[in-house]
Amino acid sequence: MVERVTVIGAGTMGLGIAQVTAIHGIETILCDLSEDLLSSACSSIAASVEKGIEKGKTAPEARENVQQFLTTSVTTVEACAESNFIIEAVPENLELKSRIFQEVEEVCDSAAILATNTSSLPISELASNLKNPQRFIGMHFFNPVPVMALVEVVRGNVTSQQTVDSVVNLARQLGKEPIVVRDSPGFATSRLGLVIGLEAIRMLEAGVASAEEIDKAMELGYRHPMGPLRLTDLVGLDVRLAIADYLHAEIGEQFRAPDLLREYVNKGRLGKKSGRGFYDWK
Ligand code: CAA
Repeated sequence: MVERVTVIGAGTMGLGIAQVTAIHGIETILCDLSEDLLSSACSSIAASVEKGIEKGKTAPEARENVQQFLTTSVTTVEACAESNFIIEAVPENLELKSRIFQEVEEVCDSAAILATNTSSLPISELASNLKNPQRFIGMHFFNPVPVMALVEVVRGNVTSQQTVDSVVNLARQLGKEPIVVRDSPGFATSRLGLVIGLEAIRMLEAGVASAEEIDKAMELGYRHPMGPLRLTDLVGLDVRLAIADYLHAEIGEQFRAPDLLREYVNKGRLGKKSGRGFYDWK
């Protein structure tokens, strides 16, 4: 059983991951660059726990577990020294992630697992500058983390079976269902999810229907819990654009980002987190 986890990055995904590990009684250190960021992350976690309890989907003990097991740190390197599991959830930038893992590897326990929550970047490339790439792996969670059942486990070229087993076991310890996939651009989930999301934006651009109608088409016609445009707002237009650009370069034309997506990102219309995307969230 995993006893201590360090989560690097207190954005939407990092704070969701930290919430789930702490709720499950795992000592959790959430790291980011500033006290302000961490303090607002803790408020978001507390609000999300209350929402889960209110909806009857989270046990009331979760409140005490978060208080007992969650701490924060602005000193990432120190926060990793004692953990047997490091999960990174910083923005989708290969250089940034690589640099963080090289620093972490210098200080963490030699048996610690190093996992990235990347939704598309190549695991084997991220591991390529590490001294021990066998313990490096993708552990991809879904937004909203406390609600979504899936964890996509991504095995790099040299990831050891022991590392895969450890991540699969941690996912189960957190009450999630793991799938194991090969390190291929976009893995299984982002590659398929992006196709629908980008096509929905192209349909909006072409005036096929309104955002509401396109979403309703998939919600009622295909029983998706949320239409592709509302989902893009939830995930973040900037996040989806970064994945689209990467998959366009790696796989091909079907992932070319629609102009409308790039235009909205340039205008700061990033979705729910910025108050406006395809919908107004204010
Ligand atoms: N803890 C905390 N909050 C909880 C909760 C819990 N245990 N259970 C529910 N909630 C929250 C929900 O998140 C939702 O919050 P908002 O009001 O902020 O939307 C609210 O309580 C209502 O919950 P319900 O269960 O009544 O939810 P719903 O039927 O409205 O469903 C949903 C909400 C679960 C988000 C659903 O619409 C859904 O499944 N949407 C699709 C999500 C999805 O596809 N996510 C994957 C995105 S891709 C990704 O994340 C990968 C990547 O790398 C980018």
